[in-house]
Amino acid sequence: MKNLPIGVFDSGVGGLTVVKEIMSQLPDEEIIYFGDTARVPYGNKSGETVTAYSRQITRFLLSKQVKAVVIACNTASAFALETIRQEVPVPMLGVVKPGAKTAAAATRNGRIGVIGTEGTVRSGLYEEYLREINPRCRVYGQACPLFVPLVEEGWIRDEITKQVSDRYLSNLLKEDVDTIVLGCTHYPLLREVVQETVGERVTLVNPAYETARELKKMLAERDWLNDGSKPPNHTFYVSDGAEKFRQFANSILPCEMIETGDVFLKVFSL
Ligand code: DGL
Repeated sequence: MKNLPIGVFDSGVGGLTVVKEIMSQLPDEEIIYFGDTARVPYGNKSGETVTAYSRQITRFLLSKQVKAVVIACNTASAFALETIRQEVPVPMLGVVKPGAKTAAAATRNGRIGVIGTEGTVRSGLYEEYLREINPRCRVYGQACPLFVPLVEEGWIRDEITKQVSDRYLSNLLKEDVDTIVLGCTHYPLLREVVQETVGERVTLVNPAYETARELKKMLAERDWLNDGSKPPNHTFYVSDGAEKFRQFANSILPCEMIETGDVFLKVFSL
């Protein structure tokens, strides 16, 4: 079991922010990633559709003999994790519960904002988990659908992105939140702009950090941590647009994709 890879999937490139965190906290683990670039975005689709896509990808990852699956997508974690986890023989983890746990620990006034896709906000799952931890906390959701295309366009530090951020987040600021969950895989890349909008007194939570920590804990408890006897050979699958994915991945991951030969990128139609 120890030296089997970990399956990670997302609707596209966003889950690479979670991969980055896993690579940093678990450098010996081998990753098989699937980015569903042909069907992105998931954020405006129904729960049924997102669950069907997630089930298909999970089966694909299981065919690659993974020892665990991480859903590195907030929307898929919100809609599909609880259902699919009951159907598979390996442990599955999402990003929502770890994000909620971190936010509950960070807030001082119990007023928490959750920003994410329309689907994630509509699912109410962050609120459900936050209230399980602290029934007295107040949770305010705000969908920020334009953030995803802005990140994919590379407009990370841009006047237009700042204007969009100001407009989306003004309602949360009126509610006096002191903590905001970056509840979408792309949003950690906009951390600086969002922080500028909300000010330094608001804590921004990136669920990826706690997700990687929980993955590590889960593997350690089962004695499934990779023994590091050989360097990991990560493999990335995408359902379309490999070149764009490669460029994006190379801009955020600590390893060069394809060029070094120790990382592989393949296009695969489900
Ligand atoms: N990965 C998605 C999420 O974290 C954002 C992109 C999409 O809408 O598919 O919710």
